[in-house]
Order: sequence, then structure tokens, then C-alpha cells
Amino acid sequence: TSKILQDKHGRNHSYLRISLIERCNLRCTYCMPEAGVQLSPKSHLMTYEEVYSIAKTFVDQGVTKIRLTGGEPLIRKDIPVIIEKLATLPVELSITTNAVIIDRFIDVLKDNGVKNINISLDSLKKEKFASITRRNQFDKVYENILMLIKEGFNVKINAVLIKDFNEDEIVDFIQFTKAHPVSFRFIEFMPFDGNKWDMSKMVSYKDVMDRVHKAFLENKIERLQDAPNDTSKNYKIKGYAGSFAIISSVTNPFCDSCNRLRLTANGQLKNCLFSSGESDILGAFRAGKSIEPVIKKAVQAKHFMRGGMDTLEKLQEPKRHSNNRSMITIGG
Ligand code: GTP
Ligand code: 5AD
Ligand code: SF4
Repeated sequence: TSKILQDKHGRNHSYLRISLIERCNLRCTYCMPEAGVQLSPKSHLMTYEEVYSIAKTFVDQGVTKIRLTGGEPLIRKDIPVIIEKLATLPVELSITTNAVIIDRFIDVLKDNGVKNINISLDSLKKEKFASITRRNQFDKVYENILMLIKEGFNVKINAVLIKDFNEDEIVDFIQFTKAHPVSFRFIEFMPFDGNKWDMSKMVSYKDVMDRVHKAFLENKIERLQDAPNDTSKNYKIKGYAGSFAIISSVTNPFCDSCNRLRLTANGQLKNCLFSSGESDILGAFRAGKSIEPVIKKAVQAKHFMRGGMDTLEKLQEPKRHSNNRSMITIGG
């Protein structure tokens, strides 16, 4: 990585997450306020040419991995072109999706080498799925997950755990990995604007492991080696086809090895998931200025931990979340 992408804490930022759209075909309660979010006017959103040119600058500076997010990235009309253009860059191209319509894009994904597909699925029960997503799309998502596995994609499933809601499904989620070679990842519920987070609704890393230890024999639970810069702590039940993991951004964050930057659909660079400060990359680009200095400044301003919320006390101050965006316009 070039100096531009290295921050004051010595972290190299080689992973760019690009949010392509602010809208979604689901309405997950932990992701967006019930009333929705104020959408950017269309003219403020990056066109596919702008996405490509800006991404290329990051790649020239040392980014080796790009993940496309949303809202729901697949509902963007020009998603096939975006994938095709970004696939010409020397990067690992991945996508995070709710998988509702992913069956229409299998060829585009395959032809362009997109192998890593992360899918949100918070319940294996149809009614619960509908209550958290406010839409009845469980069957489509479930069928599509099975199809992606069959087609040989690397599938990770993300479940945001919420107390008294889907906590009781942890063991069922792990049982899903018995026959299916996926990584089922349990995510600690995190605070964002309008998602009604509070600490008591969060299911922690420890809560998950307590359940795992009750359900499985000690010698069956294997701690796996985590990949460098992994968001998750990875485990497996011996003999199972897949694995499971915990993403503990609240109780045990991985900020010390963070390699991520985020570009929002309206072209703003966020140096951290939790930082409310943003840098106007698209503005500079449209003004015909070089964007490297903007990137450099944003990276230099990055806090060591959770956008400055280094303690759980700070994480619980509501004002800090209302300064940040809603998750739907960050993309995770
Ligand atoms: P990989 O590229 O496979 O490592 O995926 P990922 O885990 O980075 O991305 P995904 O989009 O599947 O996100 C899974 C969960 O991890 C979401 O809840 C994200 O909000 C969270 N996450 C992703 N990146 C970060 C990060 O930089 N910081 C924190 N705190 N959480 C993150
Ligand atoms: N806390 C934790 N994870 C979240 N995601 C969305 N909102 C939250 C939240 N408040 C996850 C989704 C998706 C990923 C990109 O981010 O489950 O899989
Ligand atoms: Fe990186 Fe911020 Fe996430 Fe920490 S909270 S891992 S610094 S994006």
C-alpha cells in the first residue's frame, strides 16, 4: 500500500467497500428507521463511470479488495455494467446482498470472477424473517442461498442477533452448517441512526459461546485460524461441512487490524463505519481536482477505534449515532 492509504496508527487500507445505492428491497429494522431515510437526489449519486474512475484511483494507491454493498446493490439498474467494469481492475471483487434477486445475476457474477458472496439472513423461520425484514421474501432468499452453494460460490451468511428475537436460533444456524459449506456469522447488534439500538438488545460474543458450549461437546468445538483482517472470530463443529463465526464489533472490536475504507453511494469517503465525518470525493472528482489529497486527509483523520467511541460508555451516547448515517446508506 502507498503512503496515502496508511494511517497514523500504521494501518494499511487495502479494502474498499463501495455502497452503490441507498435503497433496498427489504426494510430490516436494525438497518433503517421505520419512516425510511432521506434519499440523495439522483444527480448526487455516483454514476457507474464515476464509481469505476474513483475505484481505479484507490486501486492504483494499493487497494486489492473491493466489496459492493448498498442498500441492496443488486437493485441498481446498471449493476451488471458496474460489476463488469470493476472486474477489469486487479482486485478481489465481492458483494454483500440480501440475495432476494441474486438468481438473475449468476452469469454476471461467474463471468466476472465474483466468488465471495455475503448474505444477510437473520432467521430460518419464515414469520420471523418477515417480521425483521418487513417483507415476505424468506423462500426466495433460502432457495437462492442453496443455489449459490450448489453453484460453488464462497457463501457467508450474516445474522444480526437480537435479544429475545433470534437468539434462540443460534444452534439451528450452526446446524445449517452441518451439511452446507458456508460460514454462518453472528453479528453483535451495532448502533446507527434510527435503528433503536440499545446495549440490552445486543447478544454478545460471550452469550453466543455460552449457548454453543451448552449445545455441543467441548471436544467438538474447534477454534479456526482467522484470516488476516477478518471481521470475525471463526469456529467450526468438527465434522461439519461449514463453520460459524462471531463479529463482535461491540464487545471485542478488530480495529487494531482494520484495513477498510468506505465510499458511500453519494461519493463520500468514510474512514470508519462509526465515523460521522465524511470526505467529499465525488465533489472533488466532479470539480476536476485530483482525489488523492482528499483520500490522504481522510485516512490521516481516522481514529484508532470505532470512530472515536473507544469505550462502551461512549458507544452508548445517542448523540454519536445520530451524527452518523443510518446503516442502510453505509452498507455495513
Ligand atoms: P469479508 O470481506 O468477507 O471479510 O466481509 P465483511 O465481514 O467485511 O463484510 P460484510 O459486508 O459481510 O459485513 C459483515 C458485518 O461486519 C456487518 O455487520 C458489517 O457492519 C461488519 N463490518 C464490516 N466491516 C466492518 C468494519 O470495518 N468495522 C466494523 N466494526 N464492522 C464491520
Ligand atoms: N448491526 C450490525 N450489523 C448490521 N448490519 C446491518 N445493520 C446492522 C447493525 N445495526 C449488517 C447486515 C448485513 C451487513 C452488511 O451489515 O446484516 O449483512
Ligand atoms: Fe475499522 Fe472503524 Fe470498524 Fe474499527 S470500527 S474495524 S476502525 S471501521
